[in-house]
Amino acid sequence: MLRLLLCSCGFLASSSSSFGSFATSVCFCRFGYNYSSGVWQFEGYGYVPYGTSGVCIMQVFGASAPRPTTLMVRVYNGSLMYYKGPVLVPNIYDQWFRLNVVHDVDSAKVKVYINGTLKIEADGRGGTSHAFKCGVYAQNNDSYYMESRWKGIKVLKKCD
Ligand SMILES: *[C@@H]1O[C@H](CO)[C@@H](O)[C@H](O)[C@H]1NC(C)=O
Ligand SMILES: *[C@@H]1O[C@H](CO)[C@@H](O)[C@H](O)[C@H]1NC(C)=O
Ligand SMILES: *[C@@H]1O[C@H](CO)[C@@H](O)[C@H](O)[C@H]1NC(C)=O
Ligand SMILES: *[C@@H]1O[C@H](CO)[C@@H](O)[C@H](O)[C@H]1NC(C)=O
Repeated sequence: MLRLLLCSCGFLASSSSSFGSFATSVCFCRFGYNYSSGVWQFEGYGYVPYGTSGVCIMQVFGASAPRPTTLMVRVYNGSLMYYKGPVLVPNIYDQWFRLNVVHDVDSAKVKVYINGTLKIEADGRGGTSHAFKCGVYAQNNDSYYMESRWKGIKVLKKCD
């Protein structure tokens, strides 16, 4: 299946963005320290243009096999979702939003904030090495054109 993918990740745009028609389904930037303990936070400003659907735009990589991820933030039909549900924000297209993901590895909890409001607190899914990724990663019922834009990305670790 042919897809048009575009992802840009702020300061990494020139080296990490991709644009074109690909047989592949992934265009992701990785921000990772391959962390295995502690409390880590991803902060970034995201933008998903109208039409992008069936796609993961941010993930916490790493979980207990066979699951690859501890968190996926997806877009289906204009809604921002935790995996295939629940809905985090019903209408997410065409606006910049601030996404904060706090991963407490030791307590096995993941919190997702949009514009500073807690949208979900989910359980961790195991794993021994994690990284944050953002971009586009085709899931199911994906649109031909998929894009997410990112800026102001920070990865923070809570001091002990
Ligand atoms: C994290 O793991 C990835 C995949 O194994 C590897 O490419 C990368 O170099 C590692 N990064 C660090 C900082 O260890
Ligand atoms: C997509 O959203 C539109 C507008 O909210 C709605 O009419 C339509 O039924 C939705 N389609 C699916 C497959 O959820
Ligand atoms: C988030 O905040 C931005 C800037 O204030 C606003 O444009 C956007 O609509 C907000 N989105 C959500 C889902 O709260
Ligand atoms: C994918 O599309 C099919 C057919 O329109 C629909 O039945 C199914 O619920 C959709 N799945 C998701 C995850 O949106």
